[in-house]
Amino acid sequence: MAKEKTHYVCSDCGGTSPKWQGKCPSCQAWNTLIESAPESASPAKNRFASLAKTAEVAVLGDIDAVDMSRTPTGHEELDRVLGGGMVEGGVVLIGGDPGIGKSTLLLQALDSLQRSGQNTLYVTGEESGAQVALRARRLGLDGSQVRVLAEIGLDKILATLDSMQPDIAVIDSIQTVYSDQLTSAPGSVAQVRECAAHLTRAAKASGVCIVLVGHVTKEGALAGPRVLEHMVDTVLYFEGDTHSSFRLVRAIKNRFGAVNEIGVFAMTEKGLKGVSNPSAIFLSQHSEPVPGSCVMVTLEGTRPMLVEIQALVDSGGPSPRRLSVGLDKDRLAMLLAVLHRHASVACMDQDVFVNAVGGVRISEPAADLAVLLAITSSLRGKPLPKGFFAFGEVGLAGEVRPAPRGQERLKEAAKLGFSVAVVPKANLPKNLKSKDFEGLTIHAVERVEQAMEVVRNL
Ligand code: TYD
Ligand code: MG
Repeated sequence: MAKEKTHYVCSDCGGTSPKWQGKCPSCQAWNTLIESAPESASPAKNRFASLAKTAEVAVLGDIDAVDMSRTPTGHEELDRVLGGGMVEGGVVLIGGDPGIGKSTLLLQALDSLQRSGQNTLYVTGEESGAQVALRARRLGLDGSQVRVLAEIGLDKILATLDSMQPDIAVIDSIQTVYSDQLTSAPGSVAQVRECAAHLTRAAKASGVCIVLVGHVTKEGALAGPRVLEHMVDTVLYFEGDTHSSFRLVRAIKNRFGAVNEIGVFAMTEKGLKGVSNPSAIFLSQHSEPVPGSCVMVTLEGTRPMLVEIQALVDSGGPSPRRLSVGLDKDRLAMLLAVLHRHASVACMDQDVFVNAVGGVRISEPAADLAVLLAITSSLRGKPLPKGFFAFGEVGLAGEVRPAPRGQERLKEAAKLGFSVAVVPKANLPKNLKSKDFEGLTIHAVERVEQAMEVVRNL
C-alpha cells in the first residue's frame, strides 16, 4: 500500500512544497512551512461550482449601481469603522489578541440588532451555549433573542444558514470550523481557507452578512493564510493593551467605507462601551512634566487624538538595544540616524526604548518629531515644558515635513488646554489670531536642528 504522503503549506501565503524547507519557495518567508495532510482530490471536484450559469457581459454604464443598504449595529463606534453599518452579503473579518473582547463586542452587537428586528445567529466553536449565556447575563442582555449554535462542522453551519436565513451571522471563530472534505485539522491553513471561501460564497449567494472572528499569531498578524484578508470585504483589527480598559477597533480594509477609521471602546463591568470623545484617553497623568515624554496629536480616521510618546535612553552594552512598542521599529532606527547626522545628537552607545502610551499603534509618520523630542529629552534628563506637544514627519535629509490636516490637530490640542507647540512650517495656520488657537504658542520649524534649538530655549 502506498504511504500517505504529506506536504508542507506556508502559513503566510498558502503556497505548498513537497518537502520541508526553511524558506517558503513561493513568498520567500522564513520558517513558515507547516506539515499538513494533503487534500484528497476526488470528492473535491465540484466544491466551487459557479453560482449562476454564465453571466451576460454588460456595459458598465448600464449596470444599476444600487446603493447598498446598511444596517446600523446600534453601537456608534462599531458603525464608524464599518462605514455606517453591516452591509447585506458583506463578509467582515475581525481579528485581535485573545481576551481583548471580540466575542463580547459581537454578542452585544447581535443583541441590539436582534432587538431592532433583525434575524441573527451566533455560531460558537470555542464556547458552549451555556458559556455564551453566562456572558450574555454578565452583559445585562436578559431575555436576549439571539439564536446560538454551538457547532464546528462547516456543512452543518451552512445548512443552518440555509434553513434559518438569518440577516446577520457571527462565526466565532473561523479557526475552529472544519470541513470534512479536507483531512487537515481545524485551524490549519487549508481548513481556514476552505471554510472561509465557502462561508463567503454563502454570504454572497443568500445576502446574509457574515462576521468571521479570526485569531492572531504571536507576531500580531491575522492567523491563517493571507488570502483570508483578500477574500473578505472588511478587515477589522482589535488593538489595545489588555491591562488598560481602552480598546481600539481599526479598519484595515473596507470595500464599503473608509479605511483607517477607528472605533474606541472602554471595557467595563458590563461589556464594551463606545467612547465618543477619545482625544485625551492616551495621556498619562503626570503632575509635573517628566523627562522622556512628549505628547503628539495623531489623526486616526476623522478624529484627532492626543497620544503621549515616551522614550527612555539609557547607557547600553556593546550592542545597544532599540525597542519600540506601538511604533515602527525601522522608523526608530532611521530617526536615530537623522538625529545623529543632522542634529549631532549621538545615541550609538545607548539603549533606546520608545513607547506609545495606552497600547495604541501609531503608523503615521507624523509621530516622528514627537519621538525625536522624547528621545532627546530623555537623553538630556530635561523634561519638555508643561502643555507641550509636537507633530510632523521627519525626512532623511533632516527636513520636517507637514502632517495632513495640521489645523485640526492644533485645534484639538488647544481645546484640551495645551499651550506650546512645535510643528512643521507648512502646518502653521494662516489665521493665527482665530479663537481656535487661543492660548497656543506655535513654533514653526523646517528642520530637525531648528526644532532642537527651539526646544532647548523653551
Ligand atoms: P472576550 O470577548 O471573551 O475576548 P475574545 O473573544 O476576544 O477572546 O473578552 C473577555 C475579556 O473581557 C475577559 O478578560 C473579561 C473581560 N470582560 C469584562 O471586563 N467585562 C465584561 O462585561 C465581559 C463580558 C468581559
Ligand atoms: Mg472569544
